[in-house]
Parts: sequence; C-alpha cells; structure tokens
Amino acid sequence: MKVLIPVDGSKYAKEAITTALSEGFLENKEIHLITVVEGTATGRGSYLSEEVVHQILEAQAKAGNKILNEAKKLFEADRKISVAYRVGDAAEKILEYAKTNDIDLIVMGSKGKGALQSMLLGSVSIKVLQYAQCPVLIMRKKKS
Ligand SMILES: Nc1ncnc2c1ncn2[C@@H]1O[C@H](COP(=O)(O)OP(=O)(O)O)[C@@H](O)[C@H]1O
Ligand SMILES: [Mg+2]
Repeated sequence: MKVLIPVDGSKYAKEAITTALSEGFLENKEIHLITVVEGTATGRGSYLSEEVVHQILEAQAKAGNKILNEAKKLFEADRKISVAYRVGDAAEKILEYAKTNDIDLIVMGSKGKGALQSMLLGSVSIKVLQYAQCPVLIMRKKKS
C-alpha cells in the first residue's frame, strides 16, 4: 500500500508523521513524501530577469529539499522513502501526485505554516480532503 505524506516544514506535518509512526499506521507501507513550494512570479511574462528567476528557483528547490530531508529523518535510517518536490498550488500538486502514482492513502497534518492558528483545518487539508480520490487521514496529536 502506497502512502503519500505531504510536508510543509510545519510542526503539524512533523507530528502527523511521528504520530502515524507511533500508532503503527505506517507499518509495511510504501512511503512517499511530497513538498510543494508555492510558486512566485517566475512564470512566462514575468518582469524578472532570467538570472533572478534562476536564483529564486534554486532557493525554492533548496528550501524544498531541506523540508523533505527533515521529514525523512523522522523515519528509520534504512527505510526506503520516495521524495517529490513540486512548484505550484500545494493541494493541486498533492492531488496530481496521488493520482498519477496510484496512491492508496494520504496522511497529512490538520494545519500547517499558515498564520490562522484559530482555524481547525488548513486550506490545503480542506482541498485535499474534498477532491482526493483515495482515503485521506488528517492526523492530530492524541490528547493524553
Ligand atoms: N506546500 C505544501 N506542501 C506539502 N504539503 C503541504 C503544504 N502545505 C500544507 N501541506 C500539508 O497540509 C497540512 C495542512 O496545512 P495547511 O492546510 O496549509 O494549513 P495552514 O492553513 O495552517 O497552513 C500540513 O500539515 C501538510 O501536511
Ligand atoms: Mg499552509
């Protein structure tokens, strides 16, 4: 069974992994991590020079790789984990990845890095929950 875990570098996404691991939800599962860097004004028709666009893309890729590596470290070192980095709308890229890679379950945090801490569910989790064509598990830290 293939499990996709979207990560954004937030404590919620990390907790989603550590809780899912400690509850045994990820045992014997094929793990795919994805991080999406929300695109900036680097598209066609952008007023930015090619060099600046290149610098922005490099910085984004570096940030994305850091997030993926940190998430990877939460698993046992010898566990094989697929990682994916995308640029664009987070929910759209997560949904697209799930579809094209035949993902069986998406495990994600209830919130992320967004400023609205009063929200019960973040916008990315809401959109993924609404449009995913597979089960979605919104993780929360168990209250003791
Ligand atoms: N850019 C992203 N790339 C990958 N996963 C993401 C991204 N943004 C959010 N997620 C996933 O969605 C969960 C909820 O985040 P989100 O809906 O963005 O909440 P918030 O509005 O608080 O930022 C995160 O814990 C993470 O699992
Ligand atoms: Mg967010």
